[in-house]
Amino acid sequence: MSPACDVAVIGAGAAGLMCALTAGGRGRRVILLDHAPAPGRKILISGGGRCNFTNTECAPERFLSANAHFCRSALARYTPHDFIALIEKHRIPYHEKKLGQLFCDGSAKAVVRMLLDECEAAKVDLRLNHTIGDITKPDQFRIATDHGDIIARSVVLATGGLSIPKLGATGFAHRIARRFGLLVTEARPGLVPLTFSDDDLALMRPLSGVAADVLARCGAGAFREKLLFTHRGLSGPAILQVSSYWREGEELIINLMPDEDAAAFLTARKKTRPRAEARTVLAEVLSRRLADTIAEKHLPPGALGTIKDRDIARMGDALNRWHVLPTGSEGYAKAEVTVGGVATTALSSKTMEAAAVPGLYVIGEAVDVTGWLGGYNFQWAWASGWAAGMAVRGA
Ligand code: FDA
Repeated sequence: MSPACDVAVIGAGAAGLMCALTAGGRGRRVILLDHAPAPGRKILISGGGRCNFTNTECAPERFLSANAHFCRSALARYTPHDFIALIEKHRIPYHEKKLGQLFCDGSAKAVVRMLLDECEAAKVDLRLNHTIGDITKPDQFRIATDHGDIIARSVVLATGGLSIPKLGATGFAHRIARRFGLLVTEARPGLVPLTFSDDDLALMRPLSGVAADVLARCGAGAFREKLLFTHRGLSGPAILQVSSYWREGEELIINLMPDEDAAAFLTARKKTRPRAEARTVLAEVLSRRLADTIAEKHLPPGALGTIKDRDIARMGDALNRWHVLPTGSEGYAKAEVTVGGVATTALSSKTMEAAAVPGLYVIGEAVDVTGWLGGYNFQWAWASGWAAGMAVRGA
């Protein structure tokens, strides 16, 4: 028996749930399929369990894509305020943490509950634990599942990216998109800790647990945020952010004293505190362990007054422009997102429909649109899901 529906949404994550409730709310008959036993599992673990569900500073410039303009239309039509209105309608308490990032006061479960309640009100037929095989389109779409075939006028691919395979991430959307002839850009882990050679780790490992307020740069990305030394290398928001811009073989440039000209600072202290050690004066602006390590690596021992100006200049450079070459990243097991995905050239920026395959839509992280850290990726999931949900056709 092949149940018919207007639209089969594959993937009951952030984008799929939003698309399903929007299409259902417009009277479309929606079947929402997922291979996982529960919907919205990434929402549940996001934001340390409190879900950073949007960002009030959302702007197209805060997304990476081969086509920087693609995300504009959807983001403009479904804004953070639209999602906040939904959150408020469901009386979910929330707060701004920093930089426009909105989090639930309580558990992220409330966001999943809200989306499921909206899906129920829109009569969405949610089917979990469904293994999806191939999708073909003789006339309408035929979706093969281990519970029988499903016939649908439209199919929305909402299975996300490759990050966190243990939570059920697969390359399904990329595979099906390719199968229908759509281009898929090279995918790589984003918002991920970076790893380093043994030489660099010799400095980083002893600093494991130390945080510093830095300006980290890589390619077009520059972020003033916290860096965290770990026993595997570097992490923390500044590094996660630049990791999305990082390509193999590229250096990061990290300013460990972003508010100071480090050489000028040390030169001034050399005059006012000539008997103090460099590490002592550096501890005015850096954590004690970081100040000790950097001073030991770059300066001869002794009082500041005895240190040559050229050594101070070298030290200043090391502090303001630390060049460091990652050897890799901690990979999809630790990445919050996948950079790259179904090429935007294949899709309408207004509806997310594939131009070459009428009725096939791709939304959320499966698309080559990746947000910064801080609620941007969910906003893209809501906005692209809404855009497709508003566009899918009925009988
Ligand atoms: P998502 O991955 O959410 O959903 C895909 C769905 O498809 C899943 O339910 C999956 O089971 C299903 N699926 C996959 N393959 C399938 C297959 N073959 N067959 C059937 N179903 C299949 N973002 C943000 O804005 N704020 C935040 O606080 C965080 N925090 C965060 C923490 C962590 C640890 C991670 C890993 C990620 C985040 N993110 C985030 C990123 C955010 O979670 C992510 O960008 C969105 O969930 C993407 O939404 P999608 O719906 O596109 O995919």
